[in-house]
Amino acid sequence: MNLIIHPGAPLYGEVCLPGDKSLSHRAALLAAMSEGESRIENFLVSGVTEAMLSALTALGVTWELDGTCLRVQGQGTAGLKPPSVPIHCGNSATTIRLLAGALAAAGLPAVLDGSEGLRRRPMQRIVAPLRLMGVDITAQDGCAPLHLGQSLRPLAGIDHALTVASAQVKSCLLLAALAAAGPTTLREPGPSRDHTERMLRSLGIRVESEVRLAGGSVGEEYITRLFPPKQIHLPPLHLRLPGDPSTAAFWIVAALITPGSQVTLRRVGMNPTRTGLIDTLLEMGADIQVQPLADHGGEPVGNLIVRSSTLQAAQVSGTRVVRMIDEFPVFAVAAAYARGRTVVSHAEELHIKESDRIAALCVELRAIGVSATEAPDGFVIEGGKPPAGGVVQAHGDHRLAMALAVAGLAAQAPVTVQGAEIAAESFPDFAAQFFNLGGQLSSD
Ligand code: S3P
Repeated sequence: MNLIIHPGAPLYGEVCLPGDKSLSHRAALLAAMSEGESRIENFLVSGVTEAMLSALTALGVTWELDGTCLRVQGQGTAGLKPPSVPIHCGNSATTIRLLAGALAAAGLPAVLDGSEGLRRRPMQRIVAPLRLMGVDITAQDGCAPLHLGQSLRPLAGIDHALTVASAQVKSCLLLAALAAAGPTTLREPGPSRDHTERMLRSLGIRVESEVRLAGGSVGEEYITRLFPPKQIHLPPLHLRLPGDPSTAAFWIVAALITPGSQVTLRRVGMNPTRTGLIDTLLEMGADIQVQPLADHGGEPVGNLIVRSSTLQAAQVSGTRVVRMIDEFPVFAVAAAYARGRTVVSHAEELHIKESDRIAALCVELRAIGVSATEAPDGFVIEGGKPPAGGVVQAHGDHRLAMALAVAGLAAQAPVTVQGAEIAAESFPDFAAQFFNLGGQLSSD
């Protein structure tokens, strides 16, 4: 599908945000591992969470969706059944990595596979530490398919340093660590999202987090330590998930760059490990009003009111990168409209997301007349002049598709995004919401 954005119309109104993707994955999986009926409201119903839900079906778990309310009948880890066929995790790296940890905890044999794109994502980062814990798991040249044997439990607790900050790796290992004989300590070089820790704590599991000055070139070390229960007995979950800050990001940047706009976003997740984009945009001069609400399910939540603003360029590096790791496609669009040179560094992980987000982003931004230059660990954008407009491709990457559509809002001529249907992986209502705010778009 081609999505054509016709520039010029201001955006005004409220966006109905889908539930957080990371929290939806974790809530569904932990509900399946718990005992009793879980009820998860504002669950994200989209391509990637469909992968998680089908995986749960393959493990013999019963669940039911009523709109965006997910009910799961959990029978504990002991109630999970070995799947009779390989589990297809679609494009979802969160599904395959978290599932590998849960299956390790359950001691179940399984084959985990996915789309061609998923088969290119690195899996050695979970396979190596899982093997240290005693899990019988192999990858194919470091990638999916993953083959899990019937591991003997208890597993061994480990003390493991991750070379890159990654919530998916950390969460995989924390889930496996539930079935270990002793504590597991994970050390990261940055503050990756901590949703798994918060959710496990709310289910009664002892998980401690600490930041330590590590000295040398390492700087700060982010330490997570899980103390396993004698037996895994998790109570069911009753949650209303906050809106996804990574999806809010598209509307935030859309409102900022489109003159005359004001957009309100309600009940957005404000977990500090996810708010790096908002912090950066505020430093760039963005008019974003944050109204904190009461925490829910251990997660901070707030309303946001965003008005069009004149932005200045920014420098993004270090731990800020980790706190906005999924937002770089749309951040690059903000940078294209901001005055001056924006430099992103220490962001080499972007090469191995749903697409090579450094290469794809720079190629496509150049296609609409933005000065964007790749660097090995980031990119440089000379901003301040509205993009010329033109035809761009989504590269099978939901966030690239939505970011490029946003880029068209104040361009000099329409922007056509080819392959825009991929947006449904995380936000099936993207085009409809755009239209509701007054955005001018068409499709063919
Ligand atoms: C996610 C963690 C991040 C993020 C992904 C979702 C999660 O990946 O990019 O979209 O839910 O844990 P990494 O942990 O690999 O950085």
